[in-house]
Amino acid sequence: MDAYEKFISDLKRVFDLDLTGYKRPQMERRINSLMRVLKIEGYDAFINEMKGEQAIFNRFLDHLTINVSEFFRNQAQWDVLREKIIPDLLTKSNELRIWSAGCSTGQEPYSLAMLMEEHFPRVNYSILASDFDIRVLDKAKAGKYTEREVAGMESKYLTKYFSKNNEEYNVLESLKRKITFKKHNLITERFESGFDLILCRNVVIYFTEETKAELYKNFFNSLKPGGILFTGSTEQIITAREIGYSSAAIFFYQKPM
Ligand SMILES: C[S@@+](CC[C@H](N)C(=O)[O-])C[C@H]1O[C@@H](n2cnc3c(N)ncnc32)[C@H](O)[C@@H]1O
Repeated sequence: MDAYEKFISDLKRVFDLDLTGYKRPQMERRINSLMRVLKIEGYDAFINEMKGEQAIFNRFLDHLTINVSEFFRNQAQWDVLREKIIPDLLTKSNELRIWSAGCSTGQEPYSLAMLMEEHFPRVNYSILASDFDIRVLDKAKAGKYTEREVAGMESKYLTKYFSKNNEEYNVLESLKRKITFKKHNLITERFESGFDLILCRNVVIYFTEETKAELYKNFFNSLKPGGILFTGSTEQIITAREIGYSSAAIFFYQKPM
């Protein structure tokens, strides 16, 4: 085991943070650059610093996982979701079970909930929103966003689903109630099943090809027959055919009926 592998294994043992399955060169570069900034020499010293000070561990997590999100990210694909994918799903059932996997600070599940309320008001739906980073989940649950974070969203959503408190926009409780937030690691934990729609967007960027293939297979098993996986706008599934997905639209993968 070399120094990097020992560091990864210490992270798991000490902090329950499992980075196996992530691309080593990118991770190593990010970790080393942070250690240089913090003037820490050696992985053992870094582990000790993080053990001693929560703020350093938080800084490490911030540096590693890029949590950036936005409401209705890549709008054109949300239009496809609204105009084609959801209406197709609703021909099979009038109830939708949805999972936003890697939901970060909540913009994705709240966008989903607003879309359902606005365009499919008579449909029963539930949204599971998960991430392995509890700090982003806390922000997601709080549902408080700055002016900058809500910029670009259609004003009908902003006026209907948020209350304004000074400069802060707060998601209404009635919308929050549609979403269950849960800590969940996509690489190491079991998946729930029975979903009509799964969103996993802009999450897999640092995953190795093997990890991605495994993840997309696990999503396949979690979908109901006819269910859809919605990926990010640069994320094509190379193993889609092999797994059994067909294409419902670009970036929408369907499990056969
Ligand atoms: C860039 S954000 C994407 C947020 C949202 N899906 C979007 O497209 O705007 C990526 C999120 O994936 C989460 N993530 C990374 N690896 C994960 C893992 N193994 N399990 C669960 N979440 C993970 C990160 O914590 C981060 O919040």
